[in-house]
Amino acid sequence: MYVLGRARQLPAWGFLAIEVRGRFARLIAERAEKYGLENVKVIHGDARRILPRLAPCDCLDRVSLHFPDPWWKKRHGKRAVLTPRTLEEVVRLLGPRGELFVQTDVFPRAVSILRILTDQPDIENSAADGGLLEKPVDDCPSNREQTCMQAGLPVFRMLFRKKNQ
Ligand SMILES: C[S@@+](CC[C@H](N)C(=O)[O-])C[C@H]1O[C@@H](n2cnc3c(N)ncnc32)[C@H](O)[C@@H]1O
Repeated sequence: MYVLGRARQLPAWGFLAIEVRGRFARLIAERAEKYGLENVKVIHGDARRILPRLAPCDCLDRVSLHFPDPWWKKRHGKRAVLTPRTLEEVVRLLGPRGELFVQTDVFPRAVSILRILTDQPDIENSAADGGLLEKPVDDCPSNREQTCMQAGLPVFRMLFRKKNQ
């Protein structure tokens, strides 16, 4: 699991995982405890409802969204995690030069997410051409990312930074 791998790599960082499915939230919390990862906290809930309740502003170095939308058909659009409203909350929580990383294997979702991110005036794309990243940003692939890479499926990655204000 990505959050556990990163928590092990970066023991001085604190990690907050938000997971809507109770079974997965419990699994992350149980494994973090089993591995002695005291720098991991887990919230069970819908990220779209949790983020507006988090404080203080400007407190996060990075927010990562890995393959957030398992329901990606058009009729499932209302379940999309990254909406302009959610993004406002993410940007509010990011510190100066804080990063937002998003990856998905669903090309139409990548296109719509890239548009939402590009339209947000307080963040800027780290990719010089304003598009997607060519490589992963760290050496800790998420479960879905590993599956995609092993199957030779494309992964669409984006990294944005909060502008200096
Ligand atoms: C396709 S899985 C990817 C799992 C993992 N992030 C990875 O990359 O292997 C999508 C995950 O996002 C969670 N999820 C979807 N919508 C969510 C939301 N609104 N808030 C919190 N978690 C959500 C799902 O429960 C599921 O665990």
